[in-house]
Amino acid sequence: MEKKIAVLGFAGSLRKDSLNKALLRAAVELAPAGMTIEVFDLGGIPLFNQDAEGAMPPAVREFKEKIRKADAILIATPEYNYSVPGVLKNAIDCASRPYGDNAFDRKPLAIMSASVGMLGGARAQYHLRQTCVFLNLRALNAPEVMVPAAHEKIDAAGRLADEKTRAKIVELLEKLAGEARRNRAP
Ligand code: FNR
Repeated sequence: MEKKIAVLGFAGSLRKDSLNKALLRAAVELAPAGMTIEVFDLGGIPLFNQDAEGAMPPAVREFKEKIRKADAILIATPEYNYSVPGVLKNAIDCASRPYGDNAFDRKPLAIMSASVGMLGGARAQYHLRQTCVFLNLRALNAPEVMVPAAHEKIDAAGRLADEKTRAKIVELLEKLAGEARRNRAP
C-alpha cells in the first residue's frame, strides 16, 4: 500500500482564536484519503540571531526535522501591514539556516490566508511567494485560497463554516497531494 502523504502545517499567527489556525483545522478535517496533516505551533521558535547559528535551539531543530520528514508543507498566514507576520518570517528564516542547510529545499507548498479585510491576505501571499523562490519551495500557484472577511466565515466554535471556502481547501489539498507524489517519485 502507498505510504501516506505527510504534510506539515503551520500558521503565521500565535493567537488562540486565530482565523488562520481555523483554516489549518479545516484542512486537517478535509484532508483527502492518503494524506495526514500535522500542525506545528510556531510559538516556541525563538527570534533568529545569526550569532547563535552554531547552537541550534531545540525548537528550531524539531521544526527543521519535521519539515525534512514531511512530503509537503501547508502554510496559513495572516497579512500584517501588507506582508507576512514577523512570527512566520522568523520561523522560515530559522529553518533556512545555517547557509546550505535549508530544510525547505524542493518541498511542495500550499499557501492559504485569512483576513478580516477584503483581499483575504493576497499581498501577504505574494510576499511569501517571493521568499519561496530563494528557498526553492515549490509553491502551488492555484487554486488560490485567500479568505476575505474571514471572521464572517468562521463560527463561534472556530469552525470554518463557509462551504465555498471548504471546497477550495479540498481542491488545494488534492493538488498538493499530486505534487507531493510526483516529487517523491524517483
Ligand atoms: C492586521 N490586519 C491586516 N489585514 C489585512 O487584510 N491587511 C493588512 O495589512 C493587515 N495588517 C495588520 C497588521 C497587524 C499588526 C494586525 C494585528 C492585523 C488584520 C488581520 O487580517 C486580522 O487581525 C486577522 O484576524 C489576523 O489573522 P489571525 O490572527 O486571525 O489568524
